[in-house]
Amino acid sequence: MSPASESFTGPFVDKGLANVVVADSVMSFIDGEKGVLEYVGIDIDTLARNSTFEECCFLLWNQCLPNADELASFTKELQAAMAIPDGLMDMVKALPADTSPMHAVRTLVSAQAHFDTECDDGSPEANLRKALRLTARTPSLIANFDRHRKGLELIAPDPSKTVAGNFLSILNGKAPTEAMERGFDICLILHAEHGFNASTFASMATISTLSDLYSAATTAVGTLKGPLHGGANEAVMKMLNEIPGEEDVEPFIKARLAAKDRIMGFGHRVYKVYDPRATYLKTYAEDIAKDTGNDRLFRMSKKIEDIMFEAVGAKGIHPNVDFYSATTYHCLGLDLDLFTPIFAMARMPGWVGHCIEYLQDNKLMRPRCEYVGPHGVPYTDISDR
Ligand code: SDX
Repeated sequence: MSPASESFTGPFVDKGLANVVVADSVMSFIDGEKGVLEYVGIDIDTLARNSTFEECCFLLWNQCLPNADELASFTKELQAAMAIPDGLMDMVKALPADTSPMHAVRTLVSAQAHFDTECDDGSPEANLRKALRLTARTPSLIANFDRHRKGLELIAPDPSKTVAGNFLSILNGKAPTEAMERGFDICLILHAEHGFNASTFASMATISTLSDLYSAATTAVGTLKGPLHGGANEAVMKMLNEIPGEEDVEPFIKARLAAKDRIMGFGHRVYKVYDPRATYLKTYAEDIAKDTGNDRLFRMSKKIEDIMFEAVGAKGIHPNVDFYSATTYHCLGLDLDLFTPIFAMARMPGWVGHCIEYLQDNKLMRPRCEYVGPHGVPYTDISDR
C-alpha cells in the first residue's frame, strides 16, 4: 500500500515513519531545512549561552521560563530528589565491573522503580515527582557505576550542587572547575530535548499503554543505545581514535564513503542542514580542545567535516549533535564509553516530559502492518513435513 495519489486516504507503509506525525507537542520545534531548534519557542543557541540545565527542565515541563523564586524552589526540589536509597547504591555495587555502561544505565533506570512507592501512580502530580527523581538520580547512578567499575568508593550525591556539578564531582572524586561545570551544563542543555526522536517515540509508545514512567524511561535508554541514534557520539570518538594522524584523515574518510559506510556524527533524519546544536558544540569544542592541548583532535574533526561537506554536503548530510560532542566530552576527560550514558541522562527531561504531555490526551499507539505472506496454507502433519 502506498499513497498512489493525492486523494489516497487509506493506510500506507512509511518505513522509518519519516512522514508520520504522531501527536502535537509544545515542548520543542525543529525546522530541518533551516536548522532551527527551539525549546518552547526559545532558540537553542540562546538557551545554551544563557540558561542552565535546571532552568531548561523547568521550561520543558512548565512551558515557560521560571522567575527567580520558581527557579529556586524547582532547583531545591530537583536537589532533594537526588538522594539515592541505600538499596539502589547496593545494586550499583552488584553490577559486574565489566558491564557496558549503557547496559548499566538501562538496569539502573529500571531499578529506581523498586525504590519508588509512587511507581505505578499514573497521576500527573506523581509523574512529575517521578520525572524529578529520574532526572536527578540517574546522573549520580551513572557516575557511581563508573566509580564502582574502577574499584573506587561510591559517593552520595551532594544536594547543594547542580546536576552537572554533582555528576562531575562524583565521577572525578573532586569538584570540577567552574569552566568545566559550565561546559558540561551546556552539553546537558543541548541534549535535553529533541521532539519525537527514536528514543522519545519509544518511551511514548510504552506510556501510551498506561504503563509506568520507569518502564517508559527504560524503553528510551534501550532505544538510545543504538549507533544510529545516541550511540553515535561514542562511535565518532572510536573513529577519531582509529585515524593515525591528520594526514590519514582524507584517505580514511574517502575509503569509508567508497565502501558506502555511514560516517558517524553526520546526517540526520530531520536536519538537512547543519544541526544547530553542532554549531554551538563546534565553537565550544574548538575552545576546550585548545585549553586542554587537544588541538590536533579538533583539527582532525574539522578536516572530516570539510571532506564530508565536499563529498555529501549537497545531499544534506552535515554534522549532527554527536559529531563535536565527542571531542568536547573527550576534552572534558570523560571516558569514551560514558558518552552515550551522558546523552541518556541529559535526554531524561525530554523523555519524561513527552510522556507526561502525551498522557494529557492519551491514545494507545498501535500502527498497522502490511501483511505480504501467503493465505489459506494447509496445516501439514509433522510426519508429512
Ligand atoms: C541522533 O532523531 C533525532 O532527533 C536524533 C537526535 C536526537 O537529538 O535525539 O538528533 C540524535 O540520533 C543524531 C544522529 C546520530 N547518528 C549518526 O550520526 C549515525 C550516522 N548517521 C546516519 O546513520 C543517518 O544519517 C541517520 C540514521 C542519522 C539518518 O538517516 P536516514 O534519515 O534514515 O537516511 P538514510 O540512512 O536513508 O540515508 C540517506 C542517504 C543514503 O545515501 P543513498 O543510499 O541514498 O545513496 O544519505 C546517506 C545514506 O548512505 N547517508 C550517509 C550518512 N547518513 C546518511 N552517508 C554517509 N555518512 C552518513 N552519516
